[in-house]
Amino acid sequence: MLTEGKKYKILVIEDNTGDFVLVEEFLLEQFEEINLLHAKNYKEAFKILSDKNTQFDVVLLDLSLPDKTGGSLINAIVTICVDTPVIVLTGYDDFAFGVKSLSLGISDYLLKEELTPLTLYKSIVYSSERKKIVAELATSEKRARSFAKQLNNVLEEERSRIAREIHDELGQQFSGLKMSLSSLKKLNVSESAREEIIDNMINEVNISIQSLRQIANELRPVIIDKLGLFAAIEWLVSGFEKKTGMMCEIYINVQQISLDKTQEINIFRICQEAITNIARHAEATKVNIEIDEIGNQLIIKITDNGKGINTDGIKNSLSMGLLNMNERANFIGAKLNIISVTNIGTTIELSVDINEKKNTNSRRSFSN
Ligand SMILES: Nc1ncnc2c1ncn2[C@@H]1O[C@H](COP(=O)(O)OP(=O)(O)O)[C@@H](O)[C@H]1O
Ligand SMILES: [Mg+2]
Repeated sequence: MLTEGKKYKILVIEDNTGDFVLVEEFLLEQFEEINLLHAKNYKEAFKILSDKNTQFDVVLLDLSLPDKTGGSLINAIVTICVDTPVIVLTGYDDFAFGVKSLSLGISDYLLKEELTPLTLYKSIVYSSERKKIVAELATSEKRARSFAKQLNNVLEEERSRIAREIHDELGQQFSGLKMSLSSLKKLNVSESAREEIIDNMINEVNISIQSLRQIANELRPVIIDKLGLFAAIEWLVSGFEKKTGMMCEIYINVQQISLDKTQEINIFRICQEAITNIARHAEATKVNIEIDEIGNQLIIKITDNGKGINTDGIKNSLSMGLLNMNERANFIGAKLNIISVTNIGTTIELSVDINEKKNTNSRRSFSN
């Protein structure tokens, strides 16, 4: 039985005692365990449903109560019920009204004369499952919308940062070059001074090339396309080591596996965020990165020996780093697990399903 092990909590709103007893009998016949409450009019129902500590799995509603009836009764009950499905049990055989009442937010419309234990049971189970699925869908839709908004903010921030870098660095370098060119143009510049100006200009151009490369690399690390994901992660880690002076160990035990470009860039960005977070927050002295191929999974573990993630820090943080990591993992169908212990450290574990192996003879092992 579908309802095995589940105790349904049901409110029956029904003024006719005979009808209530019948419904109760039907329910007891079908459900293993049931917690049944009875309200005889709208006022009683309102009181029971207003208690936010009592959550019902389903509400069965008779449409002709002494203190409220029909559409206005449906509207009032559906408004208080929010996530609880409401099934109308009625004596009116009014098909048009039945259809209309569905649009008012009820889950089902059942005629008392046609009611059997099984139809009632099915309607309750379907309505309650359907409501759960709809609620889950609404939550995930809300999450997707907020993620899209955050992503947009992150993109805008990234754009303004890059614009600033171009303006401040390249702008300045080109202004320097322009000044050097103006000096060269002067007729009274001696040969040796001219040579010095040209040497300076070559230097300035070299610096500009470096800046350009750096900006382009931040936009899209070329190394991923040229040497692959694992080399890019090694490059990321060695840059981090140089910048922070933190001791990093990286083990890559992977045969040549096939990942598509979307997987590669998202895995890279997740590692980049994890490593940036270590530099910004962890107060660690050591970082360990382990990349393994286990069965048909690629497992990446990034561990630091820092102070651990403070749950308040996550709640108060305005940044979306951890959320983005999660969303990126979801996007490529991977799993992200964050294990953090106060003053012991944090491990970010990413598991990616690898479906096909690359058809290649050169089985290179990237172990070091
Ligand atoms: N490796 C880590 N060690 C300690 N704290 C961390 C670590 N990674 C993240 N945190 C905490 O989690 C918070 C949220 O991280 P994140 O979403 O990336 O935002 P941000 O880095 O912009 O603050 C951080 O502010 C920090 O308090
Ligand atoms: Mg961060």
